[in-house]
Amino acid sequence: MNNATDMFENLIGQYKGDGPYLHDGERKLIDAASGTFNLPLGYTNQRVADKLKQQIDRCTHLSSAYTKPISDHILTRLKKHLPENIDRIWLRDVSGSGAVEGAIRMAQKYTGRSGVISLFKSHHGQSLATAKISGNAFRLQNFTSSIDGSIKIPTPASELCNKESSVQSINSITDLEDFINFGSCGNIACIILEPVLGNGGNIVLPVEFYRQVRKICSKYGIVVIADEVQTGFGRTGTFFASTGYAKALKPDIIVFAKGAGGLGIPTGGILMRSALDCLESFEHSSTSGANPLSLTALNETISVIEEDNLLQHVQDNEIHLKNGLLALQEQHELVTNVRGLGYMFGFDVPSAQIAGMAIEIAGKHGLIIRGSRYGKGRAIKVRPPLTCTKAHIDEIMNKLELTFVELAKTLDTLQEVA
Ligand SMILES: Cc1ncc(COP(=O)(O)O)c(C=O)c1O
Repeated sequence: MNNATDMFENLIGQYKGDGPYLHDGERKLIDAASGTFNLPLGYTNQRVADKLKQQIDRCTHLSSAYTKPISDHILTRLKKHLPENIDRIWLRDVSGSGAVEGAIRMAQKYTGRSGVISLFKSHHGQSLATAKISGNAFRLQNFTSSIDGSIKIPTPASELCNKESSVQSINSITDLEDFINFGSCGNIACIILEPVLGNGGNIVLPVEFYRQVRKICSKYGIVVIADEVQTGFGRTGTFFASTGYAKALKPDIIVFAKGAGGLGIPTGGILMRSALDCLESFEHSSTSGANPLSLTALNETISVIEEDNLLQHVQDNEIHLKNGLLALQEQHELVTNVRGLGYMFGFDVPSAQIAGMAIEIAGKHGLIIRGSRYGKGRAIKVRPPLTCTKAHIDEIMNKLELTFVELAKTLDTLQEVA
């Protein structure tokens, strides 16, 4: 080996996964954020790894001329996990951003309109178009792009684990029709929403909001897109949130990515009503879309979720995770607004700065948690791999307890010094 190879090996070789654990060369961390929310099966899974290795020896690229029947096979497998009216797939992406753009294109072509309604604090991707429609405008400061007629609307307050549906959310619901009537000029193609806003801070939208969105969008012929890049593939305890907690949304299109690759293998896809299957391949495709490794990971992830009963496992353990976080909230005044479902929980701390401190202290205790809105939000997210057992959850809770004891002490010391 030459020096460059040695150096590369040293750099990459220090990281090693083991189920929900990451060894970073110095520490063993339990990852309560599932990587970047894209490791539903953890860092390692023998079964998926074996299939991937087998496929690497066969071929790692096939042009889309060959992959259509394989995509159709995936659709057949997914059908039982989809809302009834969704019966087509567009599998030509390797990222959530790409798939969201494809979904918008479908809605625009189908309706002949251009505008997109999206929510404050939403996150739909990194490309120019998806950053533009995401509800974190600070990301656009240095860039220009436009999707004619698009508007952003306030996000209803999150459902909380220990509170009833808030009145504030009902007010926002009524506004949607006003936004369409007064904030646009009949040019809205679609609304896009994450059933649980991920990056925005684990905001659980009220069921009544989904109901109203569906009703109003049907009235105006607006396509409803569920961005399930984070909520898909079991995260909320059903395969898609759109067939579980968010079923009242009855989306016309579901976008998936992240967890669909099981171990972080890049993949992204669009599921839709047949009427929306209206794109020509040259209108939305990417070189590596539906590459054999993505397809293998996707297919095997579906198998593991089904055969290991991971949906039931998450449903059974949800209460354990929720009660652990509610106990943490009881114990520490820094922790408020515990919210979530399945293995997708979050809570608030007083500020974004304190969230950053909590994440750092957690790391010292061997725990990975993540913040929100690129460090600008005050939410902390707890979303372990779906394979995590009750014992793993207990380990995460113990480390959260240690984190918040230390955080409180650190803040007290800082206050004394000031
Ligand atoms: C809800 C949602 N949609 C879309 C995206 C974009 O996915 P990707 O980063 O794979 O492009 C993300 C990424 O965080 C996301 O959370």
